[in-house]
Amino acid sequence: MSRQILVTSALPYANGSIHLGHLVEYIQTDVWVRFQKMRGHDCRYMCADDTHGTAIMLRAEKENITPETLIGRVWDEHTRDFAGFHIGFDHYYSTHSDENRALASKIYLALKDAGLIEVKTIAQLYDPVKNLFLPDRFIKGECPKCGAADQYGDNCEVCGATYSPTELKNPVSAVSGATPVHKDSEHYFFRLGDCEAFLREWTTSGTLQSEAANKMQEWFGAGLNNWDISRDAPYFGFEIPGAPGKYFYVWLDAPVGYMASFAKYAADNGLDFDAWWGKDSKTELVHFIGKDILYFHALFWPAMLKYSGHRLPTAVYAHGFLTVNGQKMSKSRGTFITAESYLAQKLNPEWLRYYYAAKLNGSMEDIDLNLDDFVARVNSDLVGKFINIASRTAGFIHKNFEGRLADGVANIELIGDFQAAAGTIAAHYEARDYAKALREIMALADRANQYVADEKPWELAKKPEAVYRLHEVCTVALNCFRLLTLYLKPVLPKLAEQVETFLDIPSLAWDDSQSLFIRHRINEYSHLMTRIDPKSIEAMVDANKQNLEPTPAPAPARHAEAQAHAAQPAMPVSESISIDDFAKIDLRIARIANAEHVEGADKLLRLTLDLGELGTRQVFAGIKSAYAPEALVGRLTVMVANLAPRKMKFGMSEGMVLAASGDAPGLFILSPDSGAQPGMKVK
Ligand code: MSP
Ligand code: ZN
Repeated sequence: MSRQILVTSALPYANGSIHLGHLVEYIQTDVWVRFQKMRGHDCRYMCADDTHGTAIMLRAEKENITPETLIGRVWDEHTRDFAGFHIGFDHYYSTHSDENRALASKIYLALKDAGLIEVKTIAQLYDPVKNLFLPDRFIKGECPKCGAADQYGDNCEVCGATYSPTELKNPVSAVSGATPVHKDSEHYFFRLGDCEAFLREWTTSGTLQSEAANKMQEWFGAGLNNWDISRDAPYFGFEIPGAPGKYFYVWLDAPVGYMASFAKYAADNGLDFDAWWGKDSKTELVHFIGKDILYFHALFWPAMLKYSGHRLPTAVYAHGFLTVNGQKMSKSRGTFITAESYLAQKLNPEWLRYYYAAKLNGSMEDIDLNLDDFVARVNSDLVGKFINIASRTAGFIHKNFEGRLADGVANIELIGDFQAAAGTIAAHYEARDYAKALREIMALADRANQYVADEKPWELAKKPEAVYRLHEVCTVALNCFRLLTLYLKPVLPKLAEQVETFLDIPSLAWDDSQSLFIRHRINEYSHLMTRIDPKSIEAMVDANKQNLEPTPAPAPARHAEAQAHAAQPAMPVSESISIDDFAKIDLRIARIANAEHVEGADKLLRLTLDLGELGTRQVFAGIKSAYAPEALVGRLTVMVANLAPRKMKFGMSEGMVLAASGDAPGLFILSPDSGAQPGMKVK
């Protein structure tokens, strides 16, 4: 019977690149989805970028672009990388969508109606310079337990203690460097504790892997805390209905993104949304996630679905983390490898798909990418065993039989064994034990190779009387090759496509495993897959190392005083840049032709800057606290004239004026010495 299955992978954050760690998950899911589709099931694979939160807001600000521009660019990069690894989403959306806003609001209001939302005032650390409540990751200080310096607001990397950021000693805002202050604010909480009875039952109903179910028991033992689902402005996200200035915490609308991605897809493809997400849905809902986000998917998410009148997940499958050469991925070792850098070395994405599949067994154990083993395994299994069967036999079919396979084979025992394996291999894929599936498949490949080695078609080809035997041997071998291709197809979809072209057959489905491949004309064999060159692996690792090293600056001439300064502890200001980097900044003398207040902005003045022959520019400057507009008109100052124009709420800002500020109060715009003219270059 055909099943209807909605499958998701976790939504990657839009504030970073896809790396080989992420790919464990997307490859794991994609293999499962492709397998289900080959089985003839109605399976839909949904995903999206996870776009909200403080980190994305601050990164956009730093790059001088809007968050929308940033997430648009990242969406392009993510979808490009995923396509490069043949991840076949049926729909890849964004959590910053109308559908997601509507669904998140609807779910929230339903939870509120169910009496599950409570409002409480809490104190949090606040950056008085940026006017921003600080997320834990943006606060650094000394560990309250062991005193280690430079630790994040949630846990200590030295002693492993976890704590709340308000307990940190000598906290500093990582955004501005200011000392955070405690500030009260109202927050909205989801009363998770009220859902405990339901969650205890649900988490033990077979939806989770046993390791995950055990983890749940620990969490229940520790008690379920109510969940803070609101954040104060400024925040990049969705404003909470009926709560001006309060936004949904990114993790509230992120899982709703699964639904929203489907909603858009359903609307575009004429599917009935409620048949998939309604309370009485008969479809399956399967989430693939990493073990780090189990809490969200096994507690918050089912509770949100349940109490807002939706269906529940059928399964939540968690995988472990990727290590490279036995260690955590590391930027300095070059093992924090981006998807992009892998593809840039022209490394075949199916090599990685195969290697990960060979390691994934459906458990939450971590998996290791050992780079030497990667090369050895792929070369030996894929090229040495699998491809070899075709490359050693297909030529004879062309040379001696005009490309036609035999009309029948006398001895079909070997082929029969290959066909009989379809059931077990399918069961392994279904259970996400790809490691077992591939072991089984490679054992078959060994048998096919043994058969070819025993029958020696190259010797049969020399004896005219053995022509029938030769035809049969090559036909049997190509039957085996076709079946191996079919079994490997969820893992190697592109290679399977090439083989389908070579064998001149329609797209292989799982049931085709039971048919015999005879009386058929095949195309000429051409090279299907090359070996991995270990040199390109080295080059990839090097490229990921270089990401970090600052480009060397030409050494300035140093005299004794400069040397003495150099011996001082480094200023926490910035890394050095080259003269070429500096030359990119076009600094100009500007005359402030006009300055005025901006309605609705408490920090900005609108300046009209006269650059002489270069014309005039409009710039919004955050200097209102220090200058009355009238005091500025007519003055000369210095501006960055080639800063990319930035769209602000109040209009375009076409540059930036330079001003000094420090720990002491005050803000001071720069002025040139007398004689400088508007438009002059500053260098
Ligand atoms: N945005 C959240 C997920 C929201 S789902 C409603 C998130 N994003 S993430 O980009 O950090 O991670 C996306 C997925 O990749 C997660 O399932 C995570 O576990 C997985 N991985 C990220 N790094 C990984 C490794 N190094 N190894 C294996 N999986 C990893 O979490
Ligand atoms: Zn500590």
